[in-house]
Amino acid sequence: MSNIGSYDNRLHDFSWKIAEQELGYRPGDTINIGWYCSDRICQLGKADKIALIWEGHDENSTRTYSFNDIRILSNTIGAFLRNLGIHDGDRVCLFMDKIPELYIGLLGILKIGAVVQPLFSAFGDESLFIRLENAGTKAILTTRQHAPKIQKILATLPDLQYIILVDDDGTKALKAKEIAFSLDRALPVEHLDVFPTKAESPSLLHYTSGTTGQPKGVKHVHYSLISQYLTAKWALDLQEDDLYWCTADPGWVTGTSYGIIGPWSLGITQCVKDSGFSAETWYRFIEKHKISMWYSAPTAIRSLMKAGDNLVKRFDLSSLRHLASVGEPLNAEAVVWSEKVIGKPFHDTYWQTETGSIMISNFPGMKIKPGSMGKVFPGLTAALLDPDTFEIITEVNKPGLIAFQFDWPARLRTYWKNEETFQKKFRNGWYLTGDRSTIDQDGYFWFIGRDDDVINTVGHLVSPFEVESALLEHKAVAESAVVAKPDEVNMEVVKAFITLKPGFVASDELELEIMNFIRKKLSPLAMPQEIEYVDTLPKTRSGKIMRRLLHAKEWGEDTGDLSTLEND
Ligand code: PRX
Repeated sequence: MSNIGSYDNRLHDFSWKIAEQELGYRPGDTINIGWYCSDRICQLGKADKIALIWEGHDENSTRTYSFNDIRILSNTIGAFLRNLGIHDGDRVCLFMDKIPELYIGLLGILKIGAVVQPLFSAFGDESLFIRLENAGTKAILTTRQHAPKIQKILATLPDLQYIILVDDDGTKALKAKEIAFSLDRALPVEHLDVFPTKAESPSLLHYTSGTTGQPKGVKHVHYSLISQYLTAKWALDLQEDDLYWCTADPGWVTGTSYGIIGPWSLGITQCVKDSGFSAETWYRFIEKHKISMWYSAPTAIRSLMKAGDNLVKRFDLSSLRHLASVGEPLNAEAVVWSEKVIGKPFHDTYWQTETGSIMISNFPGMKIKPGSMGKVFPGLTAALLDPDTFEIITEVNKPGLIAFQFDWPARLRTYWKNEETFQKKFRNGWYLTGDRSTIDQDGYFWFIGRDDDVINTVGHLVSPFEVESALLEHKAVAESAVVAKPDEVNMEVVKAFITLKPGFVASDELELEIMNFIRKKLSPLAMPQEIEYVDTLPKTRSGKIMRRLLHAKEWGEDTGDLSTLEND
């Protein structure tokens, strides 16, 4: 029996009070996500239940933590930060691989009322700088491996006071602002005064990329727990005896909302594998830990499909009870394949960094229409709006902009220091997601595409503007335009068109050099997979580069109205 029971019944009597009551929260109370995910679970009698089974690259490196361990260790990190002078509202960045300190550190930071800023550990110094500077980050928890990237930009970050190395044995020399800290050696803190955060106290700052301008810091609050708890329960169907694996990195919102907060607020055991993708390693991980609930992403599923059906047969995956996916369009073939080969279909879920929690989903027990994102979570009011008039579309199967009434608990509260861009997300009182879809006669959403130039590669958003700006910093590049290029597995990859400065000659070596330049500066995801040298870039008469035209060519689409083109 699924947690949601009948989707249709839930629609009728829905109220977020269901989650509030289950969590024992009343409006006006203190609500602290760090406490809810550890102390409360212990109070419910689950102190000895396993909270985290962690495995590194090496399969023999498994470490296990009970909810009581998580409670004490997050207290320990919280107390350490508090002693340094970190207060409520201060921004504290987590910049590390998927090691236990990342998961426990997040709760520790929240427990003292500080704001967590998780950043993907593969970010290069430029990506890092933009986000740390914008947030005015006061402390950063990292590891020896990643600290040099921070040292490189330290002089330009006046607000940053502490670089805390969580894997330091205290024997090596420390550089400027570095402090050694080790959870294994720190004195365990049994009791911590958890900061009395309220519903609207800030909790997390996740950075996301848009078409124009720098990445935006999406501000979430502690009350988001209400949505994350209930969606993890009803959409992901997390159940008491589950062994849950969310493959997302907490540098991205899936890895926090459903890789930490949702499951732990429900007292669910979760497994984490800190290694890159390999079909064999992943199947072995499921078999070894008897994973029952698996939340992953379309690119990974397509990669598994590519690895072949025979590989699946070498493993016992019978523990799997429920599968879900998020981040990019989940093609119908992937759903059909998983049902046939793994024995269970992937349930697509749709949401965004901004929404904080699942908005549309194929709920357990509901008929899956392969290729569709499913239906709206109970309590949400969704509509498709006409892209020109922003009026509600009532016609079935007619494309429109996905929009929501802005009233669910996990919604973003603003973009950090960028209220103006936040306000632009609204039309006629609706929150616009920036995605296009149709709705069929049964209320199922069918994703069409984004309404902007942002590239979705491997389920991660890359801003063409950010890559173009970084390209211009390379000595050989005169002009650049960056668009998505279709890719069989990754759905989209980054492609750059560049013109060279006088004195530079196009070559394969230069292409490689520029690619690496971007990888180091931004991240491996933002690195162009292809660079095309061109003599000129298509521009409007006012001199604006027409990405749209380049994009259309890549996708074999109609190039549309070219009347404003300068060099046609
Ligand atoms: O374009 C949609 C796509 O990913 C965007 C949100 O990206 P981000 O903020 O990084 O959050 C990703 C994880 C929640 C959306 O605006 N997207 C997300 N889920 C789906 C999707 N596109 C198609 N189908 C989905 N299920």
